Amino acid sequence: MSDEDITIESRLAEQDYFEPPEEFVEQANAADPAIYDRFDEFPGGFEEYAEMLDWDSEWDTVLDDSNPPFYEWFVGGELNASHNCVDRHLDERGDETALLWEGEDGETRDITYDDLHEKVNETAAALRSVGVEEDDVVTIHLPMVPALPITMLACARIGAPHSVVFAGFSANALAERVGSAESDHVVTIDGYYRRGEFLDHIEKADEAMAETDRDPEVLAWTRHDEPEVDVSDDYTMVADLLDDHRGETVEPVSRDAEDPLFLMYTSGTTGQPKGCQHRTGGYLAYVTGTSKYVEDIKPEDTYWCPADIGWITGHSYIVYGPLSLGTTTVMYEGAPDHPTKSRIWEIAEAYDVDIFHTSPTAVRQFMKWGEEHVEGHDFDFRHMTTVGEPIQPEAWLWYYKHIGDESAVIVDTWWQTETGGHLITNLPALHDMKPGSAGHPAPGIQPAIYDDNGESIPAESGEAGNLVIERPWPGMLQTVYGNDERFISEYWERFSDTDSDDSSDWVYEAGDGAVQAEDGYYRVLGRLDDVMNVAGHRLGTMELESAVAEVDDVAEAAVAAREDAEKGEVPDVYVTVREGVEENEEVRDRIVGAIEQEIGKFARPNEVIFVDDLPKTRSGKIMRRLLENISNGDELGNTTTLRDPSVPEEIRDQVQTD
Ligand code: PRX
Repeated sequence: MSDEDITIESRLAEQDYFEPPEEFVEQANAADPAIYDRFDEFPGGFEEYAEMLDWDSEWDTVLDDSNPPFYEWFVGGELNASHNCVDRHLDERGDETALLWEGEDGETRDITYDDLHEKVNETAAALRSVGVEEDDVVTIHLPMVPALPITMLACARIGAPHSVVFAGFSANALAERVGSAESDHVVTIDGYYRRGEFLDHIEKADEAMAETDRDPEVLAWTRHDEPEVDVSDDYTMVADLLDDHRGETVEPVSRDAEDPLFLMYTSGTTGQPKGCQHRTGGYLAYVTGTSKYVEDIKPEDTYWCPADIGWITGHSYIVYGPLSLGTTTVMYEGAPDHPTKSRIWEIAEAYDVDIFHTSPTAVRQFMKWGEEHVEGHDFDFRHMTTVGEPIQPEAWLWYYKHIGDESAVIVDTWWQTETGGHLITNLPALHDMKPGSAGHPAPGIQPAIYDDNGESIPAESGEAGNLVIERPWPGMLQTVYGNDERFISEYWERFSDTDSDDSSDWVYEAGDGAVQAEDGYYRVLGRLDDVMNVAGHRLGTMELESAVAEVDDVAEAAVAAREDAEKGEVPDVYVTVREGVEENEEVRDRIVGAIEQEIGKFARPNEVIFVDDLPKTRSGKIMRRLLENISNGDELGNTTTLRDPSVPEEIRDQVQTD
């Protein structure tokens, strides 16, 4: 997005306010505006979140900021995340449901906190028995089955950071992440259901193992009692290990607050995904606190976020936050439209869901399917969250009316894999809702908007710029795994004085554009860097381009984000082929295949466009912005810095007459 685009977007009409219903306000966890005053005390305000947890030993310093941007939170404290999400609830809520799981095939499992305790302990014992030790990174490649949160919590119990790789990622992507995290253990499953089909998931592990130069031990769960597909004899069956460790308990390991809890790989502006490393104490405190105040979760609620645990939303707001609060969290294995487009609403009704948390992409999809699939289903949400992209006012209003029945609050939460939890969001009882705006900073968070020169744009000016965060917060990533330099260059360098050891000179760059309206509400416009957001999945253009570059006949490739009414954005791939190569379907198929192979089917491009040349600056840099304008039918804009300004014009004539 260029500066020009931001100004255009920021001129969108401001929307009307919607008041939270009185019944909601009366029961809300955060109903007293004094919460903001408490958190104004920095960093001490954040102790309120830490105090929501059980600590083995209390911290002595809330924040050590002596070596920015390597901040340390709750220094000296020790705790265990699995204890906090499981054991501490046993006395009062042992018989209550922790996980309500529904398989796509209709199988259901009601896992109480007692059951969860048993399973997490046995799994922890199983992991230890194959040599997983404290601080070993375990890579988990599991779909939406109970084994996924159970394995995560088992890792947390023994102090082994997990790195969950979304099940939709390809074998190559898995191999890359296993290598980058230096994992000696990979956890997978034989398969799972998607749109009525049993998908062979072991295939991906087989391919990934052939690909990687490491030699990790692969542990395989099974979706049913027996494997449904061939599982290599080299793999260890989790079921056998569990049989050997039936009824065993494993003492939760006391972890230093700063010990890593997990890695989550995410796309950035280079070809290599980065492993965002999250700490134990600050992260768990932050997601617990925001689950309580933003999600308004109470132990007696049934909470459902139909995202995938393989992304940060699932880590923070399906697993760690909700379970830390001792609530019931729902998991659904399959597709939202299988066998019918009412599946989501049937589940919401059957489990009497109180809080529902989804993405604008999903809302747009529900809207496209039509309200007839919702009508007649008797569910009653009091709270609905959106996350992952800007929500268009039209979609917001539809969600409000047809899903919330005009009686639920909608909370638009802005945050990122790196931030661990919500950073810009209203506290639903304390602010009116405004469609399309994430709203106010979360308690204790200090966002600002900077121009490209690093000057702060006056607050509430309505002017668009770069969204930054000026103070650290406990949920923030610690570093990029194994790469402190990249941590600094990706997030801090641009707006910080990197020679300073005064933390007030260090500013976190979010990579998003935003405006703050006169009323103080922030509206996030989208990424300003080479990262796109496809149906709520974050993809780096460089990653897509590197995948395409693997295809023999391709000379050069550039990826541009095309706006899409349903998915938010979709990738268009512009390619030039080598001399003598014919631009045909077969080459196109290989390009699409390469993306599926390197990243996964979810990253499949919208279009592959063969061109004679790509627009380049005199120094040879590809101008993706121009391609983006072409893909979106916009004016080309300034082409004077180009080596050959006729190139984008030709591409535009080619694409826009298609
Ligand atoms: O561009 C912003 C967008 O999603 C990006 C973060 O993606 P990811 O790390 O995958 O995490 C998604 C779930 C937290 C952001 O840089 N984004 C996220 N939430 C919003 C949003 N854009 C606008 N409004 C939001 N509420």
